[in-house]
Amino acid sequence: MSSAQQIAIPSPPRPQPATPAIAVESVRKSFGEQSVLNGVTLSVTPGETLAILGRSGTGKSVLLRIIIGFETPDSGSVRIHGQPISSLSLDHLGDVRMRMGFLFQHAALYDSLTVEQNVAFPLQHHRRDLSTAQQHDRVRQLLAEVGMQDHFDKMPSDISGGMQKRVGLARALALEPDILLLDEPTAGLDPISSAEIGELVLKLQQEHHMASVVVTHDLHSAKTIADRLILLNAGKVVIEGSFQQLQSSNDPFVMQFLKYS
Ligand SMILES: Nc1ncnc2c1ncn2[C@@H]1O[C@H](COP(=O)(O)OP(=O)(O)O)[C@@H](O)[C@H]1O
Ligand SMILES: [Mg+2]
Repeated sequence: MSSAQQIAIPSPPRPQPATPAIAVESVRKSFGEQSVLNGVTLSVTPGETLAILGRSGTGKSVLLRIIIGFETPDSGSVRIHGQPISSLSLDHLGDVRMRMGFLFQHAALYDSLTVEQNVAFPLQHHRRDLSTAQQHDRVRQLLAEVGMQDHFDKMPSDISGGMQKRVGLARALALEPDILLLDEPTAGLDPISSAEIGELVLKLQQEHHMASVVVTHDLHSAKTIADRLILLNAGKVVIEGSFQQLQSSNDPFVMQFLKYS
């Protein structure tokens, strides 16, 4: 075939880098004189799990609250699916937040509601399109996913800490979020319960394909759950990479953190 007869085949479009689900750019935050975050940049792609490690008081929870939009940074930006959250109206911020499931370290469950009522709560407020029967089915399905279907009528005070975290996870998933933010999901649990919660988070993550951020100082669960880790110290990211990359680092702070965690 001569070159004149060749048909020009257009080259396929180059794959565009996916918009990160979460993009934090140069975020700074101080409380009075105390500077907590000193320029933190990170991003999480859809389907990826990022663990944020660091000693107590380094600003991990503050960073998570900034990502959700509960706190505003002094400078820098947070984009959720490409949208800068600082520019959103309250209505739009509400819409964006509905796509985020979160579980805080404290205030995990409503004490006066049963397990079932806790998980039903977001559905009752945001999914009025579902009938009571549909909401009920959805709650049972969520509880089954976290292995709590037999405890639906218990009060939070009557179940273990690990079970409370399971229910909190079911509630966090109620609105089918595409972003999941977990603050110390294994804190205060014994090692076996911690490992079980770690496995559960991994399973949920794989089934729901969310972009997840897990704040933890539990290195073992971070290793189980995370695709990528960052270590915060003095308001900055000291290192970012896989668990193996952290382990082979010769940065003195990273080495010390891994040794004592
Ligand atoms: N609303 C606030 N007002 C004043 N200081 C705060 C506030 N929130 C957090 N801090 C301070 O910021 C620092 C980081 O807190 P935090 O993010 O909770 O740490 P971590 O989660 O890493 O343990 C702490 O010294 C804490 O006292
Ligand atoms: Mg914290």
